[in-house]
Amino acid sequence: MISLQNVSVRYGDLLALDNLSLELERGQVFGYIGPNGAGKSTTMKVLACLLRADAGEASVDGLSVRKHPEKIRKIVGFMPDFLGVYDDLTVHEYLQFFCAAFGVARPKRSSLIDGVLELTDLTEKKHEMVSGLSRGMQQRLGVARVLVHDPKVLLLDEPASGLDPRARIEMRSLLMELQRMGKTIIVSSHILSELHEMCSSIGIIERGKLLFAGTTEQAIAESGAGERIAIRLEADAVRAASVLSEDERVASATVEDEGEGEVESEREVLVELAPGKHGHHFILERLVNDGFRINAFTPRSVKLEDVFLRITKGQVQ
Ligand SMILES: Nc1ncnc2c1ncn2[C@@H]1O[C@H](COP(=O)(O)OP(=O)(O)OP(=O)(O)O)[C@@H](O)[C@H]1O
Ligand SMILES: [Mg+2]
Repeated sequence: MISLQNVSVRYGDLLALDNLSLELERGQVFGYIGPNGAGKSTTMKVLACLLRADAGEASVDGLSVRKHPEKIRKIVGFMPDFLGVYDDLTVHEYLQFFCAAFGVARPKRSSLIDGVLELTDLTEKKHEMVSGLSRGMQQRLGVARVLVHDPKVLLLDEPASGLDPRARIEMRSLLMELQRMGKTIIVSSHILSELHEMCSSIGIIERGKLLFAGTTEQAIAESGAGERIAIRLEADAVRAASVLSEDERVASATVEDEGEGEVESEREVLVELAPGKHGHHFILERLVNDGFRINAFTPRSVKLEDVFLRITKGQVQ
């Protein structure tokens, strides 16, 4: 559904996208992660036909961005990171305006607007001024706006930025609803845990280069981040950490520092297994054999944050 082949974009001397290639199938939700200035918005602008690539080929649903920008604009909904809203309109008028801009037939507009308002949970705000909406509602209106022409592809540039925890959860369920409707979605965010839950695949970009694209499981494997276990002991956390550190199957064993005033005996030992090592039995066995008393033993899943930190090197243009 989306294809980028060796796409490069320059802003003057700055290479914002560097020979970037990416293929996304229909119905995929692709989480796009990268530090500020990495090239996420630039990628979306190329696909939305708002920016011409200096080299390479990009296409949406088989249509080349060079040859068919008009056709592509009809099947793509782009929600930019900074959404301009027209303050002196009501929510309904605002959406009417975009229906007109996208050439939606007049008789269809009313029911269509009701549909997107329902989907974005804004029905009650239909006759309120856009300027009077909270930030979260304005973000949802931004999504409503890109849905009026029923696009197959959605490019959502940080749709959850600036939202409170409840609004983030609502935004996430909205995106999952859109996925169920069969949309192909690229969504950028800095909140990695959020992407982890709702994306079928992720991409990590830095300084214009796509460092990784694939499923989160593949990212975890590729990053070399090992499985982790948190162990709470009745006593001797420091000694337990040093015993475990000596095992070749353990990449690291450290006593978690949970702040001042904590009794040594109550601190946790955080163990990271060497890459590719599985099973926690040997750790448990070793500790029990050595006479440690274990109060809790909790395997922890690898977080996308860890993967991201390993894959990127923190270099920003
Ligand atoms: N119109 C422009 N003119 C010149 N340079 C630009 C322009 N737009 C973006 N850039 C530069 O291109 C690079 C990529 O920018 P882009 O906006 O794509 O990054 P991003 O990944 O979306 O970052 P953020 O997370 O901050 O939104 C940055 O170094 C940025 O400064
Ligand atoms: Mg951006």
